[in-house]
Amino acid sequence: MVKGSWIRRMFEEGIAMKKKYGPENVYDLSLGNPIMEPPPEFRRELKRLADHPYPGMHGYMENAGYPETRAAVAAQLTKETGIKMTERDVVMAVGAAGAINVALKTILDPGDEVIVFLPWFVDYFNYVENHDGVVKTVETDAGFMPRLDKLTAAIGPRTKALLIDSPNNPTGVVYGADLMAQIGELLRRKEAEYGHEIYIVSDEPYKKIIYDGLKYPSPLNFHRHSIIATSHSKDLSIAGERIGYVALHPEAEHHDEMMTGLVFCTRVLGFINAPAFMQNVVRNLQDVTIPVAEYQRHRDYIYEHLVRFGYTVNKPQGAFYIFPRCPIADDVAFIHELQQEHHVLTVPGVAFGTPGYFRLVYCVDDRTLERSMPGLEALARKYGLK
Ligand SMILES: Cc1ncc(COP(=O)(O)O)c(C=O)c1O
Repeated sequence: MVKGSWIRRMFEEGIAMKKKYGPENVYDLSLGNPIMEPPPEFRRELKRLADHPYPGMHGYMENAGYPETRAAVAAQLTKETGIKMTERDVVMAVGAAGAINVALKTILDPGDEVIVFLPWFVDYFNYVENHDGVVKTVETDAGFMPRLDKLTAAIGPRTKALLIDSPNNPTGVVYGADLMAQIGELLRRKEAEYGHEIYIVSDEPYKKIIYDGLKYPSPLNFHRHSIIATSHSKDLSIAGERIGYVALHPEAEHHDEMMTGLVFCTRVLGFINAPAFMQNVVRNLQDVTIPVAEYQRHRDYIYEHLVRFGYTVNKPQGAFYIFPRCPIADDVAFIHELQQEHHVLTVPGVAFGTPGYFRLVYCVDDRTLERSMPGLEALARKYGLK
């Protein structure tokens, strides 16, 4: 709990500070809760369902979810990857967090290892431990890209999965097609060596939030033992509605048994099924996304300012986070100073397994972003970045 509660702690301290100083005087860049409202098509679907309810609309359905919604998800994945997918490859899930837990429970035996790259999404450790798995962390390079030499060394006889997150939270990097091809090839080599499947579990809620015309390389195109575990939390800006899905490559070994496992785990983890109403809503929204250009505008603004202030920082290619190097060694002391002296809330790198950095979110309104800049500039100056 202590290790994993940084983001929530900052969020709660932010609430206390907002009470004390007034919400307009606290600039919260700590939580990835998108400011954007869902796109108009979302309301259209809400209204359609409210105006034309059908009997049983709020009842149970099969644990995998409505076949029509799963077919719509499969059709979208086919469009994106060129791989023929059907509703038999998809189980609807309770957000990406629910989807990852269902996938891990399905594939892990106690003691099995799951590899994650540093910096990592805070709750991965907890998710893996939920299912008696063991996390193995692997370092990335200076640009936060996976290092294949380190990955090779980390894979052993108990490795069951590589859990990836691209576009990445907290760094904003997107794993390119060449890298994905190399990872796929490496996993197949190791599968042959150890005689069992090694899955890529792809946590990709940001896959449509991608900038500068980049194309998202889906793991489905590079490794048949890929499981997509994702949500519409960020691409439709509906994080509180808890709707996502798990999708398995149609050519995965033991495909049907795996699907039965995913459905069973959806039930026994206590989800039973993903929210019925939202399944009906997202069915017709598979190719709809919030206006990504707005986030790109924020990305450009924050990146340009941080560079001007003297911070060392990579330009994010996707998602809505930026992860600069901290000007002092103690990232926790730094974010506290930023909070106490300048009312800017951020998260220390230690929360992501990489001390010496800090994370800022830019899925906030323009004013919050603009008002955060003087504090960041003041500390850059104080610590001699310029
Ligand atoms: C990388 C990553 N994975 C998973 C999640 C959880 O997504 P969801 O709200 O859909 O469960 C988040 C939320 O911020 C995230 O950033």
